[in-house]
Amino acid sequence: MQKELLVSPQIFKQMLDNDEVKFVFDLRNEDDFKDGKVEGRYEFETLNIPQEDFVGEEERHLSKFPKDKPIITICAHGDSSKYTAEMLLEKGYDAQSLEGGIDLWTEYYETHKCTDDPEIYQIYRVARGCITHLLISDGEAVVIDAVRHTDKILKKVDELKAKVKYVFDTHLQADHISGGKEIADITGTNYFMNPIDAQNATFKYSHLKDGDTLSFGKCSIKVIHSPGHTPGSTSLLVNNKYLFTGDLIMKTSIGRPDLGGASEEWTRLLYDTLFSRYASLGDDVVIFPSHASSIKEQDNGVVTLTMGTARKESDLYQIKDFTKFLEYVNSSLPANPERYQEIRKVNLGIINPDEKKRKELEIGKNLCGMTKGT
Ligand SMILES: [Fe+2]
Repeated sequence: MQKELLVSPQIFKQMLDNDEVKFVFDLRNEDDFKDGKVEGRYEFETLNIPQEDFVGEEERHLSKFPKDKPIITICAHGDSSKYTAEMLLEKGYDAQSLEGGIDLWTEYYETHKCTDDPEIYQIYRVARGCITHLLISDGEAVVIDAVRHTDKILKKVDELKAKVKYVFDTHLQADHISGGKEIADITGTNYFMNPIDAQNATFKYSHLKDGDTLSFGKCSIKVIHSPGHTPGSTSLLVNNKYLFTGDLIMKTSIGRPDLGGASEEWTRLLYDTLFSRYASLGDDVVIFPSHASSIKEQDNGVVTLTMGTARKESDLYQIKDFTKFLEYVNSSLPANPERYQEIRKVNLGIINPDEKKRKELEIGKNLCGMTKGT
């Protein structure tokens, strides 16, 4: 059967999960390619030749393409990759093009149900590894760490015939633009943040306070101040068994403590959170992180771990000496993109860029975790 020329983001994700992607030809410029290289659960070969170097020089480059593997062509918006796939097909290669390019791919979401009581859903932005949690009990909904494409979240809330009661951001996000305030405004509910992180916010918000208990449906939410990734980072413990850590503990990394500049001070906070503030949580508590570093972290679509696993497998949990802990942190910090400072300002309402700029700010996958983790 003749393959379709265009592969939708949904089919592309299935191909990545099924080890069907073998060779990717990426026509974006080198910087964009490096910032947001497409990764999958399985390894595959990637060739990057920027479009301007490729066009007119196709024949010279043809020997770089495999004859015995399917090729997926990718570009920024899906136009040159389509043209290139057509050209490769004519030359006898097995080629398809990613529909809509990286533009559409970075806006592709999957929703996975994690538990039944309460219903917990992960709304997962695949290319960036951002996870919004939607919790529902008795028709009442809670949204944690909303992505900026709020329609994806509100559509699910409507589908489940639920009413939003609370909207939380676990911390001042630096890697992505939060949709939390927008969801709260649209649904007429309160937007909660820790005032330490939100002190420069230009809008009104409700204060997340350590030790407070809130409820929705039949569920309780205990607020636990868990600083480190940011000074105001706050975790939410639902029914004493599900812990929403934001970026404090993720599946294969711990949240970096340097995005606001005060690295050593924030590392001390991180150390205290891991070893003291979380100390009373049982090993069977299930952690729902707000980021994944790759789709390899999905297990049947879901990204979770237990407190016990984090304690056993995270490198940082093995380092009890603070000086060594600090050294380890300092040797595990990825790049700190300049755009993260701008994103923080957007999330505080200080600047309000247009859609084009918002897209630019969210280029590439999130870098909230340390490079060495669990
Ligand atoms: Fe973060």
